[in-house]
Amino acid sequence: MDVSRGTAGTWVERWERQQRRYAVDREERFTVISDVVEHVCAGRDRPLLLDLGCGPGSLSARLAHRLPGAEIVAVDMDPVLLGLGRSHHANAARYVEAKIGADGWVEALELRRDPDVVVSTTALHYLSAPALLRTYRVLAALLRPGGALVNGDHFPPDEQSCAELTVRVGRLRAERAGDHGHEDWESWWREAAADPELADLFERRERSRPSPDEDGNRDLSVRHHTELLLRAGFHHVTPVWQVGDSGVLVALKD
Ligand SMILES: C[S@@+](CC[C@H](N)C(=O)[O-])C[C@H]1O[C@@H](n2cnc3c(N)ncnc32)[C@H](O)[C@@H]1O
Repeated sequence: MDVSRGTAGTWVERWERQQRRYAVDREERFTVISDVVEHVCAGRDRPLLLDLGCGPGSLSARLAHRLPGAEIVAVDMDPVLLGLGRSHHANAARYVEAKIGADGWVEALELRRDPDVVVSTTALHYLSAPALLRTYRVLAALLRPGGALVNGDHFPPDEQSCAELTVRVGRLRAERAGDHGHEDWESWWREAAADPELADLFERRERSRPSPDEDGNRDLSVRHHTELLLRAGFHHVTPVWQVGDSGVLVALKD
């Protein structure tokens, strides 16, 4: 059964607040990603964008607003979040259920042309480092020449002695913005699971068990990601924005 727009709206709004707790300056990060996408897609009438780990379509919705001509394919492995996105941000993207990195995940997207830009927010750190390298290789091959990968995520510094500092700066920024007191991840999932209108989606979630890789890469710094991206076949990599550990890393393909 599809989720009503009203119910989906409630849970997506709560998702947005909950995620601000974890992604420092999340809205500005979305805006910076959109700035990069707009730049890479300049002069293209109908760019194709791919949103990895889209959740309920938060980034796709912002991109659809900023680039109304874009075609967006949004992929996630979680049926609950996809169900909310399909209802609340129905027109933003075509939503696909697949596990990034698993066999056949690219074919599941049913792309009819090469994407101009692949984007992602707060999602790729769920992949283990080997799965991340494999995924970067797939993306470097998939993108059109001149295309880009734009990843907003947690990027801690290389040096342990600096880690406390970036965490502290991020925390203070979140506190000043009033984001630190928002509902947390566990509460959101517990309460969403108790909503009768989401029961079918949670049943599907239980059946598909969309468990992320156990050893995600939360500790990988910008330098580490850069090494993997260059090994995978991207030609130029640069951070374009960072507050605390929250950053945007761009990889360009010649
Ligand atoms: C913290 S949420 C972020 C969602 C959204 N991008 C946002 O910024 O609000 C991380 C998302 O990544 C998805 N995810 C994690 N690993 C994945 C994988 N291997 N394949 C597909 N989705 C994955 C999760 O299901 C979840 O929706």
